[in-house]
Amino acid sequence: MSDNCFLQALDQRRSVPSLQLGAPAPDDATLLRMLQSAVRVPDHGKMVPFRFLRLQGDARHALGEFLAQRSRERDPHAAEAAVEKDRQRFSHAPLVIAVIAHLRDNPKVPAQEQLLTAGCVCFALLQAAQGFGFGAQWLTAWMSEDPAVATHLGLAANERIVGFIHIGTPKIAVPDRDRPDPATLLQDWQP
Ligand SMILES: Cc1cc2nc3c(=O)[nH]c(=O)nc-3n(C[C@H](O)[C@H](O)[C@H](O)COP(=O)(O)O)c2cc1C
Repeated sequence: MSDNCFLQALDQRRSVPSLQLGAPAPDDATLLRMLQSAVRVPDHGKMVPFRFLRLQGDARHALGEFLAQRSRERDPHAAEAAVEKDRQRFSHAPLVIAVIAHLRDNPKVPAQEQLLTAGCVCFALLQAAQGFGFGAQWLTAWMSEDPAVATHLGLAANERIVGFIHIGTPKIAVPDRDRPDPATLLQDWQP
């Protein structure tokens, strides 16, 4: 492990599953400070192709009720346990930040690049949350692709949910998982 603090922070990043996140959440000032780090991403053309939706308190439970109802609509034969899981999804962590990609036509910046920028925001927010001593997890699942959920959350036609970043205080010390060996992933390109 390097003694360089920046590299140490990169090397120690890990997710804390949303089920293991509890109160307290970051307060408003801390959240804004975290977002200040999160928006510092590579952004071709300075398009700022993202925005945030904060889900906290009863709004999380209300979204869960909507998801349960939508889950039943999508699959009338869904097991009750699956519907219940959807109802609870946003009720574990005390704070969820939905990172929304806001895509605009730009001949120099294709939609994929704008989506990647929004993805970088998700990663940077995970790092910032951990930097402040919180745990976080980037989740998507079916609700990030479902048109009815997008409408319910007030997204415009040119917007996509890139991630729900669940944030809170870890209830347990999460063991690390195996990480890929970069040496096995590196090849020299030969002309
Ligand atoms: C775009 C994206 C979406 C993800 N969606 C889910 C998800 O819906 N459910 C899940 O269990 N993990 C999901 N993950 C994985 C977790 O965010 C996380 O990477 C995983 O829990 C492993 O932890 P780690 O970050 O320490 O490797 C997603 C990751 C990414 C990048």
